[in-house]
Amino acid sequence: MRTPRSLAPGKELMKSRISDLRHKIKRLETLINTSMVFSGILDIDELLDTVMQQAEEVMEAEASSIFRIDEKNQDLYFITARGEKGKEAKEIRVPMGKGIVGWVAKHGKPLLVPDVRKDKRWFGGVDEKTKWVTRSILAVPLIVKGKVIGVAEVLNKRGNRHFDKGDLELFAALGNQIAIAVENASLYSDLDKLFLSSIRAIVEAVDAKDPYTRGHSGRVVDYALLIGQAMTRDKERLKEIEISSILHDVGKIGIPDRILGKPGRLTRRERNYMERHPEFSAAIIEPIEMLKKLTANILHHHERYDGKGYPEGLKGKKIPLVARVICVADAFDAITTDRPYRRRKSIRTGLRELQRNSGTQFDPRLVKIFVTQFKKNELS
Ligand SMILES: [Fe+2]
Repeated sequence: MRTPRSLAPGKELMKSRISDLRHKIKRLETLINTSMVFSGILDIDELLDTVMQQAEEVMEAEASSIFRIDEKNQDLYFITARGEKGKEAKEIRVPMGKGIVGWVAKHGKPLLVPDVRKDKRWFGGVDEKTKWVTRSILAVPLIVKGKVIGVAEVLNKRGNRHFDKGDLELFAALGNQIAIAVENASLYSDLDKLFLSSIRAIVEAVDAKDPYTRGHSGRVVDYALLIGQAMTRDKERLKEIEISSILHDVGKIGIPDRILGKPGRLTRRERNYMERHPEFSAAIIEPIEMLKKLTANILHHHERYDGKGYPEGLKGKKIPLVARVICVADAFDAITTDRPYRRRKSIRTGLRELQRNSGTQFDPRLVKIFVTQFKKNELS
């Protein structure tokens, strides 16, 4: 029969096992949360920052970075650098094979360095430039389809402690996910660029149909983004404004050239036909899955704030916000460029016309933002 004395160490062991298990569960949770983060965010900076924030938390690290290999230059550059010297660090490039990170990139193996001063691979270039003091490093290669594409590292375990084998195992597992995220995000970014340049090319072809509107859509994008950037920092929303603005007049492809380029006043019939271009634009956009959600922004870009616009006579906030933004941007470009039926007016007149029609044709809040931002940009 066991004495209470011999029970005590057993209890202690159990306690420590439970605590160990809790710690493991916490770590596992981080991994799962990270996976969830990966599936929801496509903006690479935001995504990697969130992941590394979690990695730092669970690894109890003071800072962290992700490097990408530049094959052409045979060096590594930062894609994220967290911690108090992160901003400065981002400017620095690390030669392939040099330092701990360069070694991990070259050999494709994780590395745990409890004390960098005792490791001859240590290269203090980044510390020198940023005035940061690295004590310990845990670095893992980011491997996609057998190829090393970068390195992720955490620096300095908090409380003057060292990273251990458990940290290494977890960070290596996290590294697999980071690698996939980095690769996916850059594929997505390439695809996004290709997509944007393709629609820009299509729209330029439509703009070119009418010599007077050449470059119109591009300028409308700039003006609309001027308003958008003052309203939000949400990249998705700004992308929505950008693409909707590029495409707002794509339906003009369905308007005969003799109407588009007519030097005199349009007849009533011609005008009615011309005013159908937002519907044509919407009809082009709607069947495209990636663009579908922009249909209302485009369909309503000629609505007026007072409800006297077309095609549906929507009023005030019933008009989608992005459509109201395009309306201001579009009108400003129309006023300040030559048209078949009249000469362009000056920028000052353009801004004044927007203000004169604020509250009737245009959303007054957006006119105010546009005028302020335009003047600010002009001055800078
Ligand atoms: Fe239009």
